[in-house]
Amino acid sequence: MDFDRKIRIAPSILSADFANFGAEIRAIEDQGADWVHVDVMDGHFVPNLTFGPPAVKAFRPHVKTFMDVHLMIAPVDAYIDAYAEAGADMITAHVEAGPHPHRTLQAIRATGKKAGIALNPGTPAEAVDYLLDLCDMVLVMTVNPGFGGQKFFHSQLDKIARIRALIGDRPIHIQVDGGVDPTTAPLVAKAGADVLVAGSAVFKGGSVASPDVYGTNMQAIRAAIA
Ligand code: DX5
Ligand code: ZN
Repeated sequence: MDFDRKIRIAPSILSADFANFGAEIRAIEDQGADWVHVDVMDGHFVPNLTFGPPAVKAFRPHVKTFMDVHLMIAPVDAYIDAYAEAGADMITAHVEAGPHPHRTLQAIRATGKKAGIALNPGTPAEAVDYLLDLCDMVLVMTVNPGFGGQKFFHSQLDKIARIRALIGDRPIHIQVDGGVDPTTAPLVAKAGADVLVAGSAVFKGGSVASPDVYGTNMQAIRAAIA
């Protein structure tokens, strides 16, 4: 994949119908999703539980674009190979997941997958300074991870801008995750983010029976930025 900073929308299937993942993934892609964002939670690093490697493997054949797997798990290193084998295109781990995020990124790169590093809202931008050369993406959490539908933290806009400056001209995406909607999307884009995760703002009001609503919701985010 060639690198560019055009705005990408990555719907989080955490907000999809859990009895219908294949159809939901096809619906958001047909309606213009750029990536598919998969939120993996362990009930320990975050207070919620979601998808193990077999679930991610089951999603894989339905994803035609790019499967972006956000690991909210600790420890994380022991599970990297399993999520790579399940078919992730990008694996993102949290900088707070253990004492050795540098080793974690090396392990992700060793699988041949793209590597991302995520920061919780309380973690400073500088935490990724010496990790950037091992990264394809920095994920700035704009809510406390664990649940969809939470309110966006405006304090994180300054962090996005700082990370954008640290990156300089290196080919590294900045992703934002949490509370992204047509009101907050222009703010994160202006601060320097280029990959926008959105759960509730994409899925609200739609279903596999009325997938055009997903398209309208994504269009509203793109129009707010443009
Ligand atoms: C939060 C997850 C997000 C979440 C975003 O822990 O990482 O991906 O699903 O949901 P919204 O867009 O509803 O805030
Ligand atoms: Zn996420």
